[in-house]
Amino acid sequence: MDNDFIYDEDWASNYQHFARLHGRIAEVDETVAFLEDYSSGGSALELGIGDGRVAVPLSERGVRVEGIDNSDSMLELLAKRTDLVRAWKGDIADFRTEQRYNLVYCVYNTFKLLATREAQLDCLRSAAEVLDDQGILVIEFDVPALEGFVNGQKTTTVFVDHENTILNAHVHDPLNQNLVSSLLWFSGTSVRRLPYRARYVYHQELDTMAERVGLELAERWGDWARGAFTEGSKRHISVYRRTSL
Ligand SMILES: C[S@@+](CC[C@H](N)C(=O)[O-])C[C@H]1O[C@@H](n2cnc3c(N)ncnc32)[C@H](O)[C@@H]1O
Repeated sequence: MDNDFIYDEDWASNYQHFARLHGRIAEVDETVAFLEDYSSGGSALELGIGDGRVAVPLSERGVRVEGIDNSDSMLELLAKRTDLVRAWKGDIADFRTEQRYNLVYCVYNTFKLLATREAQLDCLRSAAEVLDDQGILVIEFDVPALEGFVNGQKTTTVFVDHENTILNAHVHDPLNQNLVSSLLWFSGTSVRRLPYRARYVYHQELDTMAERVGLELAERWGDWARGAFTEGSKRHISVYRRTSL
């Protein structure tokens, strides 16, 4: 299975506009306030740091933020934005550093872009290894939305306004818990196609994978304002700590 998905120039040049339309700029303050509570004013590592949407404002609150990303184009966006955040090119499924962090976090569904169970486990293992003794791992992840597939296919409407129509076309690969997807973004007379593959995971499987690498669930919320995680939740924010002996 092709697991080499990388945000290319097309993704990067549309990322900030998409994140805004998707409501992810509007919630940055809440995201950062949540993460700051777990960073003990010390150090944090972001997995899939992107353009620094979260890392930059978190670093402006005095947290020493570092990050990993495998996309040159996204790292360039980050570099244009700040020199406060140290970031390096790497795969979040397999990284090592001597540094230990108070907080490691992986937000905005980045974790599901690791399209195999092995890659997801490797990511959790790498993250656990770089946490300090009291360190915390935070993962923000959508609840799988598997309703509405017909013959293994579904198209959803992500956003519509006067200028933009953004659709998401999915094909289900149930053996691998993968959705093979393309964002189709129509604006004016142009259409952009932004493909990706993702592995969906229910929260209990995520907990089981975390337990395999020595982490245990400490808290789970339905949003960054610490709303309850319920059967109606569309995503969860899961907080893991080292398993107590
Ligand atoms: C949805 S964006 C999130 C960016 C940023 N974390 C945010 O919240 O705005 C996913 C990011 O993860 C990066 N990424 C995806 N797979 C990766 C991998 N295997 N290793 C490192 N970075 C990865 C992408 O290049 C992209 O910057």
